[in-house]
Amino acid sequence: MSWSSYLEDLDGKFDARLRESRIKTSTYEEGRIVLTSIIGMVEAAFNLEVLDRLRRPCFIAVERPSAGGDVYLIYEVVSASPIHYQQLSMDVSMPKALRLDFLDQIYSMWGKTEDAWIDILSVYTGYVMKLSSQEPLFERDETFVPLVGARVYLLSNKAVDKFINVDRGVELGRLLGFDLELKVDLERLIKYHGGTFGFTGTGKSNLTSLIVRKIMNSLEDTRVVIVDVAGEYVISLLDLVAREGVFYSIEDFKSMPNGVEALLASQAVPETLVEALEPHGGYSLLEEWIEKLFDNDKVKLIDLVTPIPLTLKMILERFETLARDDNPANAEKGRRVYQRIIQLRREKNLPLEEPLLKLARHVPSLIDEVKSIIESEVPREQSTGKRGVKTKFESAAEAILETLERLEEVEAPAEGGGVLPEDLAKAMVSPERSPKLTVLYIPDPYNARVFTERFIKSLLEARKRQIKGPRVLVVLDEAQEFIPDRQRADDYTSQSNVAVEQLLRQGRKYRLHCWISTQRVAHLNVNAVQQIHSYFAGTLPRSYDRHVIAEAAGVSPEILDKTALLDVGEWLLISYKATRIRGVPVFIKAPDNEKILVDNLVKLSVES
Ligand SMILES: Nc1ncnc2c1ncn2[C@@H]1O[C@H](COP(=O)(O)OP(=O)(O)O)[C@@H](O)[C@H]1O
Ligand SMILES: [Mg+2]
Repeated sequence: MSWSSYLEDLDGKFDARLRESRIKTSTYEEGRIVLTSIIGMVEAAFNLEVLDRLRRPCFIAVERPSAGGDVYLIYEVVSASPIHYQQLSMDVSMPKALRLDFLDQIYSMWGKTEDAWIDILSVYTGYVMKLSSQEPLFERDETFVPLVGARVYLLSNKAVDKFINVDRGVELGRLLGFDLELKVDLERLIKYHGGTFGFTGTGKSNLTSLIVRKIMNSLEDTRVVIVDVAGEYVISLLDLVAREGVFYSIEDFKSMPNGVEALLASQAVPETLVEALEPHGGYSLLEEWIEKLFDNDKVKLIDLVTPIPLTLKMILERFETLARDDNPANAEKGRRVYQRIIQLRREKNLPLEEPLLKLARHVPSLIDEVKSIIESEVPREQSTGKRGVKTKFESAAEAILETLERLEEVEAPAEGGGVLPEDLAKAMVSPERSPKLTVLYIPDPYNARVFTERFIKSLLEARKRQIKGPRVLVVLDEAQEFIPDRQRADDYTSQSNVAVEQLLRQGRKYRLHCWISTQRVAHLNVNAVQQIHSYFAGTLPRSYDRHVIAEAAGVSPEILDKTALLDVGEWLLISYKATRIRGVPVFIKAPDNEKILVDNLVKLSVES
């Protein structure tokens, strides 16, 4: 092989030429999605070994002489079909005897005649390889037009390694079709947001767990927060929650007499996991681990009942601003309310930054007292009755009164109630106060949306004030619950959509990131999908879903259609940030998180 170890021809058996190159534009969904591919048709001499090799993912290189030295255009193979020229002239209208004779002839000649070949359909990756120096150089270049008849080679493992893998990257599975581990830049994988997309059971939660593991093992200074509506992650990451994490729920497992049992019963524990643990105690091993969580105070309560984190401080700030208003009447009223609330606060010795609802548990008259101070300055009948222009004071006072009234309608949370999403967010951005992993089990989608919206908003606010602190990744499995395309205020989907979109658009500069996962791309807010830079696509049975991903990820629909052949745990990865080369789709087999979990649960429980 004089032309280097980067091109391969299977000892001369892969004897192939470019037959045709064309641009193909396809329109889907009544013109809403337009996808373009540069298609390369290659014809290879018929050979069974070649045919076998082409069944697995591969890249091919089309030779292109140029003034600056040889260049190779890199295509990705979509499919390979064996063709015998006689089959082309066969016709079902032939008499049967003749047809069978034809078929016998064709079958006996595969591999023995020049008249059989392999048609290879491939799509251009947008990259060329230059072999002028010692190392191959991969560059994005769509200006080279290939020459029909040019020789075609397979890219060797070594070339693919150079093409795809990041130096010293984190291993995330095996590259299908190549004897290689995929190595990605994990930091960039999460930094630019990512997601897993595939039918139920393709392994999205498993892969998400695996990625969280990798983050915790190899990224310093990163916090992961998983909003779990399906009840999977405290189990799938149990060893990590026990070691460096915490589990929150809106059910108070801690105060239940059979908390361990109840917690385990609430989770979707895979049968395969219990089976794999059988030789080591099975279900009771899980119980032991959950018990450890309770013993180490890692099972906590989240408080969503307190819907509005209104504090005395927030009220005071509002009236203080009014006290400085240019309008003397506004300023006078503002000053009076401000002073009376300060006085109330002093008399009762109330903390300024606790939510009023919490304070109201100890001082039941509090909300009423604050209301009457404000109401004494707002002639109620006047402002509610007439449609006259409200003063600045009146608008502000009414907004606060309304909020206070809503607080009164809310059931007061249990004594010793849980943590507010706002407080969790504040703690998250300071490294001393946040565990590396936080799993929140919130099975009711409405509550999960409320939590997520309040958490993300506070996270962004906290980071805008104080830019320092760890990176935070928010994981939203079953993302269609949080960012559906149909949005309504009454089920809180509008609010959660706004918050998640904001995280996707602005998060990166505040070191806040998002990982989503869903089975139905069609039901997702497309704006959100387009903010993502790394896509793991599994089998997506509906063509619409594949087209949305193809469009958002900028790859050809032919490649996306190949996901139909993927097995559980196998993925098409398209990443614009985490692989060495932007946006080249690769197929991988991810390791099974469940295996890693079993190993760790057994190993660590023996150690402790
Ligand atoms: N990489 C993998 N290797 C082996 N088995 C896997 C892999 N990923 C998922 N599985 C198995 O497939 C099943 C479904 O996985 P899951 O992650 O729950 O799918 P999804 O979240 O897409 O519905 C589980 O039993 C899981 O253990
Ligand atoms: Mg899942």
